[in-house]
Amino acid sequence: MNRTAVGLIGWRGMVGSVLLKRMREENDFSLIEPIFFSSRNVGGYLPDWVDGSISLQNSYDIDLLNKLPIILTAQGGDYTAEIYPKLRHRGWKGIWIDAASTLRMSQDSVIVLDPVNRDVIDSALNNGIRTFVGGNCTVSCMLMALSGLFKNDLVEWVVSMTYQAASGGGARHIRELLNQFGIINKSVEHLLNDPASAILDIDKNVLITQKDQNLPKQNFGVSIAGNLIPWIDKDLGNGVSREEWKAGVETNKILGYNENQVHKKYIPIDGLCIRIGAMRCHSQALTVKIKQDVPLNEIEELISTGNQWVKVIPNTKDLTINSLTPVAVSGTLNIPIGRLRKLNIGGKYLSAFTVGDQLLWGAAEPLRRILRIVLSQE
Ligand code: HSE
Repeated sequence: MNRTAVGLIGWRGMVGSVLLKRMREENDFSLIEPIFFSSRNVGGYLPDWVDGSISLQNSYDIDLLNKLPIILTAQGGDYTAEIYPKLRHRGWKGIWIDAASTLRMSQDSVIVLDPVNRDVIDSALNNGIRTFVGGNCTVSCMLMALSGLFKNDLVEWVVSMTYQAASGGGARHIRELLNQFGIINKSVEHLLNDPASAILDIDKNVLITQKDQNLPKQNFGVSIAGNLIPWIDKDLGNGVSREEWKAGVETNKILGYNENQVHKKYIPIDGLCIRIGAMRCHSQALTVKIKQDVPLNEIEELISTGNQWVKVIPNTKDLTINSLTPVAVSGTLNIPIGRLRKLNIGGKYLSAFTVGDQLLWGAAEPLRRILRIVLSQE
């Protein structure tokens, strides 16, 4: 069998590593001839599990990239901004699959999340679209959780208040979080070890350490350990952060809700995005205005049939604290959604809390799945 050549770029980074791990688990490499690229280690060895004799290729070699039918990149936005226009300008007609946000809102791209928008993807493929981009992590995880309500056209609007993990910033952010935790712990270790010490002394010393100029904070700018940061990504200058802006525009683009796309409508989605000291799962507290006062048990049924990964967690304390947390979800494809109840504002106002691994459904998984879809059409 002739396998399709796929250029893999940015595979050593955090998203890229998770992507490769998932591709190996799902045997995706049996379907492709992977060409591994690098910017710093051109000519270097391939990962030891790869069959093949071609060494690492230069990820800035436009002539070589131009020959590939498919390129899959998790290298980041700067790479995409530099290379993608050059390739398309040369007339490259290949499939570009990308984790970065650079091309998400371009007219010629589709944001991929196939359990939610397979119709939009199929229609795009039929119309010759050749650029497929993974969505923002909180948006993808929220849509995986609520897809049953969207599919049944029950959503009037959504407010999403996020609790986003350190990993959303990148690998260095995770290290900084853990270093801060360690330094803070050390600063009060002697007091913690003394049962007779006063808790207010511990609290005072922790705060001194958190505000210490020497606390490593190059990435977050402030202490994230024992703290939170209610701003993620750029300041758009109108009181909205870029992360918050993405919620509305990306959700609607994923669903094909746009005057010019598959469905002619637009659902308002907004909220605040907050960075917290979790590792790799993003959580969200949702308020959903539903179009009809549907009973809660029917809502739970609709949500749980949205896709095979979403799991409704009954709204009890025990199940919530054991199954609806970043620790419970980390490293899995599960999308639990719980705390489901009608708010006392009225029967059309639903509360929910959902958690997703931002490196899996939030980044890598939609990319490896669109690769499979594209390959199945060839
Ligand atoms: N923008 C996200 C974050 C990364 O900062 O958490 C996942 O897309």
